[in-house]
Amino acid sequence: MGSTSRRAPPAPASKPADDPAPQPQSAPPPQPQSAPPAAAETLDAIAARKLRALDGRRLRRHLIVTERRGAAAARRNGRDLISFSCNDYLGLAHHPAVVEAAIEATRRYGAGAGASRLVTGNHPLYEELERRLADLKGAEAAVVFGSGYLANTGTIAALVGAQDLILTDELSHSCIAAGAALSRARVLAFRHNDAEAAGGLLERYRGEHRHCLIVTEGVFSMDGDLAPLPELARLAARHAAWLMTDDAHALGVVGGGRGSKHAHGETIDVPLQMGTLSKAVGAYGGYVCASTKVAEWLRNRARTLVYSTGLPPGVVAAASAALRLIDARPELATEPVRRAALFVDTLVDRLRPMTPERSGAALPRSVRSAIVPLVVGSAERALTLAEALERRGFLVVAIRPPTVPSGTARLRFAFSAEHDEDDVLRLAEAVAQCLTSRGAVG
Ligand SMILES: Cc1ncc(COP(=O)(O)O)c(C=O)c1O
Repeated sequence: MGSTSRRAPPAPASKPADDPAPQPQSAPPPQPQSAPPAAAETLDAIAARKLRALDGRRLRRHLIVTERRGAAAARRNGRDLISFSCNDYLGLAHHPAVVEAAIEATRRYGAGAGASRLVTGNHPLYEELERRLADLKGAEAAVVFGSGYLANTGTIAALVGAQDLILTDELSHSCIAAGAALSRARVLAFRHNDAEAAGGLLERYRGEHRHCLIVTEGVFSMDGDLAPLPELARLAARHAAWLMTDDAHALGVVGGGRGSKHAHGETIDVPLQMGTLSKAVGAYGGYVCASTKVAEWLRNRARTLVYSTGLPPGVVAAASAALRLIDARPELATEPVRRAALFVDTLVDRLRPMTPERSGAALPRSVRSAIVPLVVGSAERALTLAEALERRGFLVVAIRPPTVPSGTARLRFAFSAEHDEDDVLRLAEAVAQCLTSRGAVG
């Protein structure tokens, strides 16, 4: 395809009025004094200064080579560890049927897609994947994107524009915020999981805008709690707004594996269900489930689909194989949540009569997903605890700002159907020891 693969022919050369994408501006004519200021800091100096600032606040990140041997096993720095840091909630990334599907499709169709889906990258495997996603989520149609991040940014920016309003939970994922910023809509955040606060904002501001999108995570990635979808859906209906869920951590785990729309014991109208194929599905890619018409709109207007190369065929085949397993074995979805609850119950029991709070840490009161946060406050303390657990053979990642609000650094435990119950019990014991022995956590 040469250079044509970098441009998507279906997109019109001149942008239609309903396409809000910013266009590159031509450079202004050169000014008489265009030399840089003499004392301009070099790029390297800026990078070094910013990295030092991160070091000083214990907020610098490092990429650490980690070999994954399954959902629950990892090898890092020459040591085998039991991992509680992976979103492969059902252990499907290493499932023989999933791996085999990837190999077979790669042999047949090649390693890469070669172009955008709208050019020649729409290989035959997408049809099955999108059908399976739509059926599982109870939607008319699905659109698969290159990743969850691309699904959120592309969808939000395609659906709303400068005259519109976006209401989002204050803890929503970074790619929801990125999509909202790209859309140029007015963006208002409501207090975490507070439907009443969202209702107040709608009363006050909805009338000033053409369309309104309410977007939240179905299961919160760093807190593990569920959004109040029945209340948000009622608000959406009352205020003529569209409700969108990000089910990245819900698919395969809650609602019998079908996601957050199905996890509240009542029928909820969620016209836009976004998610990822990279967590419980064990592969890679993102999707949005919607009506047939909205899906077609996204295929035409979501820039991250139109102007980005399609997924590798092996990845699409792997995702379909994993969805087949999720569909055939709905009981699998209960396994990660059962282990998460076992961990919390055991830890609370082990710490008695002390509460987790008295040990300087907070655990969720109820467990409804595969994610358990142990909020410890400072980045320093979270890192020290993670290091202490690693010495005991457990890989648990410290989550620090800006991923979570300042003062709420935490350990984030992710449970998988692959975890041995004995390992969950040993983890609870190790965490209890770290929290109670001053020496272990500093
Ligand atoms: C809530 C949420 N949304 C979206 C994403 C992005 O998905 P992906 O990793 O497929 O880009 C993530 C992944 O980290 C996530 O946690």
